[in-house]
Amino acid sequence: MLRFITCGSVDDGKSTLIGRLLYETRSLHADQLATLEADSKRIGTQAGGLDFALLVDGLAAEREQAITIDVAYRYFATPKRSFIVADTPGHEQYTRNMVTGATTADAAVLLVDAQLGLSTQTLRHSCLMAIVGIRRVVVAVNKMDRVGWSRDAFAQIEAQFRVFAQPLGFTDIACVPLSALHGDNVASRSRATPWHEGPTLLAWLETVAVDTDRVSLPFRLPVQWVNRPDDAFRGFAGTIATGVVRVGDALCAWPSGAQARVARIVTQGGDLDVAVAGQAVTVTFANEIDVSRGDLLAGSASQPAVADQAEATLVWMHEAPMLPGRAYLARIGTRTVTCTVTHLKHRLDVTTFGQLAARTLELNDIGVCTLAFGEPVAFDPYAENRETGAFVLIDRITSDTVGAGTLHFALRRSQNVHWQFLDVDQRQRAAQKAQRPRVLWFTGLSGAGKSTIANLVERKLHAMGRHTYLLDGDNVRHGLNRDLGFRDADRVENIRRVAEVARLMTDAGLIVLVSFISPFRSERRMARELFPDGEFVEVFVDTALAEAEQRDTKGLYAKARRGELTNFTGIDSPYEAPENPELRIDTASMSAEDAADLVIAHLGEGGGTA
Ligand code: ADX
Repeated sequence: MLRFITCGSVDDGKSTLIGRLLYETRSLHADQLATLEADSKRIGTQAGGLDFALLVDGLAAEREQAITIDVAYRYFATPKRSFIVADTPGHEQYTRNMVTGATTADAAVLLVDAQLGLSTQTLRHSCLMAIVGIRRVVVAVNKMDRVGWSRDAFAQIEAQFRVFAQPLGFTDIACVPLSALHGDNVASRSRATPWHEGPTLLAWLETVAVDTDRVSLPFRLPVQWVNRPDDAFRGFAGTIATGVVRVGDALCAWPSGAQARVARIVTQGGDLDVAVAGQAVTVTFANEIDVSRGDLLAGSASQPAVADQAEATLVWMHEAPMLPGRAYLARIGTRTVTCTVTHLKHRLDVTTFGQLAARTLELNDIGVCTLAFGEPVAFDPYAENRETGAFVLIDRITSDTVGAGTLHFALRRSQNVHWQFLDVDQRQRAAQKAQRPRVLWFTGLSGAGKSTIANLVERKLHAMGRHTYLLDGDNVRHGLNRDLGFRDADRVENIRRVAEVARLMTDAGLIVLVSFISPFRSERRMARELFPDGEFVEVFVDTALAEAEQRDTKGLYAKARRGELTNFTGIDSPYEAPENPELRIDTASMSAEDAADLVIAHLGEGGGTA
């Protein structure tokens, strides 16, 4: 079985080529070509391979979580070999789909339009293949009929590619002049290219070496399901990513490290003594240990990395740029955790392989960064294990897949910093002040009235004997956040810091008022999640843009309109209004005084006495 991926720019003829391969190998009839997009499951059944059905199931499982990755797997076979090709629909999200399909591929078909030659996109895809560990590449120079089967045109593309690919470490490079539309050199040799000495595309695919080492790598089973207690037995199900497992083997469940011996290996076709990479199994243990969905079962002799920080190569796949400091979701194997890019080390120049300084990653950019996860995760460095060392990043608000990458190594720094237990805790500090700590988070446009209302609220609380502190955007930006401007990445960091400060202050027992524009839903949510339920009170100071601009107390709207101030909220930088704030203050129908009373009423008796 050869798993491969096709890649190239949108109009290079990828779908035509896959259709042609299926047609030539009679895996589909001509009239079925039109319905190629149909149900992958049906083709999966045709494949008869457990492996393939599981790939499809894995995708279905991802959809359940509203995580869609648009990869369909096509199956076809010749007498010499069977194939699975990751068919990744094109368009803008092309890179995203390609990377997702590529992490399990043995080889890649790189499509190049003979009329256009190598494009930046082609070069980018070549880099991506190298990053995800594909070592065998065939360059399919397509649409040769459109250039009159020019031997020179072909030779030039081949020569250019070989020079470019030199540093990428491919072990196998072939180039084939072909026409996906007419079938020349796809499955049979074309009379139009008597000068072509290499194989046809299919012949190359039939003979290229396949990595068989998934079985010889250490045992890894990402747990996909845990059987429910009312099931006949308690077992842990998933697809074996790498290695071999036998009844009686000692396994560890990571990140906890709990150890147990395998009692049974259950499959749909009955119990097994031994199971290998690619098989879907349910493992039961001789002794009871705590294992959850998302854990990684590993042989006791080879421990995976377990860490909450790691260095990684990240490929950005979304129109909205990557923002360091923003909380995304990372999916590593079957585990999903929150994940923040803490530091972007550099961006890759795909034409020269140079390292460029960068603050963010734009669509299709490739960078090296450090990641921080919300909790420890088990993984292997990608260079050692492609199955357990890759990840995708998902936007928490839209559920879009926004990035994908490979993990290099765990950062030890987190393991040497322990949480120090302190004798006096928040409860005692708050009790001394006879109050309930809270964060009152005021969000709204510049000039909406946040600071005015927050200031009134603090005065009233103070008069009631409450212990408070007001963090105001303008003020904090003069000190702690002096290094930050108003680009998206800066605002993300601005909010991250002030949220952490507010957390320290509520831990100190205070009632904290935060008055920051905080324009992004994602960061307000991140802030909210730092606090226990009920402690975070989001107050949306809702003033229409026209009204805020009309007031323009600081003269900033006028400046922004004159073009003297860029990235101004509401003008050329977005404000994402809260969807479910605890309180919404419509400043058009309510005075600041009444608004302050409303906020205090929300806190309960005396502003929240303990
Ligand atoms: S936030 O978006 O990062 O939350 P923050 O509340 O800290 O913003 O700072 C907003 C204040 O900075 C505004 O009240 C305004 O006085 C000032 N300011 C200066 N430039 C800008 C800008 N481009 N956009 C918004 N506010 C700005």
